[in-house]
Amino acid sequence: MDANHIPTAAYGSFTNEVEAINYARQLGAPLVVKADGLAAGKGVIVAEELDIAEDAIRMCFEGEFGEAGNRVVVEECLTGPECSLLAFVTAGKAFCMATAQDHKRAFNGDMGPNTGGMGVYSPVPIVTEEEMATMVRVMEESAAATARAPFENDYRGVLYGGFMLTPEGPKVLEFNARFGDPETQVILPRLESDLVDIMYAVATGDTTSIDLQWSPLWAVCVVLASEGYPGAYEKGKVILGVDEAEAFENVVVFHAGTTLNADGELVTAGGRVLNVVAMGESFDEARERAYEACELINFEGKQYRTDIGAKAAAGRSSWE
Ligand code: GLY
Repeated sequence: MDANHIPTAAYGSFTNEVEAINYARQLGAPLVVKADGLAAGKGVIVAEELDIAEDAIRMCFEGEFGEAGNRVVVEECLTGPECSLLAFVTAGKAFCMATAQDHKRAFNGDMGPNTGGMGVYSPVPIVTEEEMATMVRVMEESAAATARAPFENDYRGVLYGGFMLTPEGPKVLEFNARFGDPETQVILPRLESDLVDIMYAVATGDTTSIDLQWSPLWAVCVVLASEGYPGAYEKGKVILGVDEAEAFENVVVFHAGTTLNADGELVTAGGRVLNVVAMGESFDEARERAYEACELINFEGKQYRTDIGAKAAAGRSSWE
């Protein structure tokens, strides 16, 4: 990102505890400490205070996260609304999809532990034209960069751009070489072009035939989860009402953690169980329809956020 002038958090990468702590003091709190490796989702510490950051750095180098802690990244803490912008990438070009905004915390008001995503909507109405132009430029420059030295890997597929809309403009939080979950559940229903044609063009590097057309409808997805998620939860609870929910106009229910039991009944089999997606002429209509559909589905311990999209519907000032 540095080499390609792609805006992201200021950061330093260290193999030495003293240097990492000195850099953290220079950046000042709040900041983020990351064990630079796989740490079962636990290797990122958002430190509101400097002494918490320093403890986190020491923890990494003392082996709390195994080998992942041998290198530690100390990063500026970005603030603002998050926004996901995914793109189909082929032959060094990016074809951006519609914007979406995930809700990662377990409970209303963005409280509780992080999850795999409790709900999402598309498009994101709080994004300004200028921010959109910056995010599109970042996706295009990133796609072009993958095709140049030192990568030269001609990446073909989906590039997921995770952005923070900071007061200084959009900055990249993360890239993933995949679709987003649950972003895909609201982006693809709005795609009017044929997905198979696009995937074929991406795979064959045919940039001339990719033309993404989007429905003007709004899409909102509410995730129905098992009681206890993202902590321990029970499985095997009988799920009722999916057909009734899908009988609603413009509602589709995607299965995530479900299976059939020995009696052929639909039962829960994961933390995030179902994704209830509704489309509507307006943001409010899509949100109301999604929640009406959610109420028709029942299983013991059903848990979901009731504020998906509420912050964005209230406007950008909700993040201040
Ligand atoms: N929604 C977050 C992700 O797919 O990584």
